Amino acid sequence: MTNPFVYGEIVPDEAFVDRDEELDRLVADLTAGQKVFLISPRRYGKSSLIRQALGAVSRYGALTIELTVSSYSSYLAFLEGYARALAAVETRWQRARGWLTEAMSATRPEVRYEPTPAGTGQISVAFPLVRTARDVNRVANDIFALPGRLAADRKRTVVVALDEFQAIVGFDGGGVEQALRAAAQRQRQVGYVFAGSEPSLMERMIGPRRPFYKAGPVMRLDKIPPGVFAEFIEARFTKTGIRPEPGLGAAIVDLAGNLPYDVQRLAHETWDDVRSGGGRRVGLDDLHATLARLLAEQDTLFEAVWQRLTLAQRAVLRAVVLQQGRELLSADVRARHRLGGPSSIQASLAALIKQDLLLKEGPQYVVVDSLLREWIARKTY
Ligand SMILES: Nc1ncnc2c1ncn2[C@@H]1O[C@H](COP(=O)(O)OP(=O)(O)O)[C@@H](O)[C@H]1O
Ligand SMILES: [Mg+2]
Repeated sequence: MTNPFVYGEIVPDEAFVDRDEELDRLVADLTAGQKVFLISPRRYGKSSLIRQALGAVSRYGALTIELTVSSYSSYLAFLEGYARALAAVETRWQRARGWLTEAMSATRPEVRYEPTPAGTGQISVAFPLVRTARDVNRVANDIFALPGRLAADRKRTVVVALDEFQAIVGFDGGGVEQALRAAAQRQRQVGYVFAGSEPSLMERMIGPRRPFYKAGPVMRLDKIPPGVFAEFIEARFTKTGIRPEPGLGAAIVDLAGNLPYDVQRLAHETWDDVRSGGGRRVGLDDLHATLARLLAEQDTLFEAVWQRLTLAQRAVLRAVVLQQGRELLSADVRARHRLGGPSSIQASLAALIKQDLLLKEGPQYVVVDSLLREWIARKTY
């Protein structure tokens, strides 16, 4: 029997929880050709939501293109990947090559077919004539126009998902944002979702004086309602023949800080441990045994994270854990945890956020990784 909990990858349909409203809105906006910004910290479920939305719009007849911007090592590599993804909408490869070669006749792309071990093969696209930054910009303009052309040629709605979109700012200073915005704006038949994992960077990108200012609706993805998540977990245990003790779902969600990734991880690992022990029930003792195992496995890694921090950062991080991230600047908390003055605390908080260890949720600071939070509570002083 396979584990019903999934983490570290896009969740399949069976493990996808809630997000009904978000999904409806996203699907409606994208089929209407809107340019949607989807923002949340890492591991909240953007990519999983996008995958669901693309599935739905393609069932309604739209053509979909999905790309993770951060996985490309250069602007040109991104453009090649984008062109390849656009061409690959046509599954017959001769036609794909014909379409791309004609659509980009000025650039003369080199379109090849590469067999893959799986046997299906894939298209590769390269721009051998591109040398200077100006060439790159010209190709970019050509490629950014392609979704519109695809929609016109095929008389279908096209939906483009650019995931980890904040990585685009690394490619070149602003020119790429301008070019993409200008192209997208002209494409009435093309819906775009730009998803980003670094909220502050993304918010700046859609702020005044930036090309994407007021380009379209902004969706800030929140956590999943804890009660819904807890119920889902218990139902999945039950369905796989393991009876949960009352409150187990809520305990998992709570321990995981309700971060979707961490919730699924803890549920997955607990399920594995119970299952391999041949158990038919699961309770809080099992949860804590699994937690202890996971902490032991991560010990070396967390030790290294801890060693890299300055003393001031360690003290602040511990205080965040012990104070549940609240009132860190109050005189009382500062005295209790022997923290420095407010400005040095602020500096440590900012550094910890920058290192992706902390996250700000409203007035509260939370440790991103709930296992690290538990490790700090148990193993540091
Ligand atoms: N709607 C959901 N239902 C259940 N689990 C989810 C959901 N969204 C995300 N998760 C969990 O969180 C993990 C990270 O999700 P992902 O979509 O990759 O997040 P992001 O793209 O925001 O980093 C998934 O592997 C899964 O374990
Ligand atoms: Mg993602």
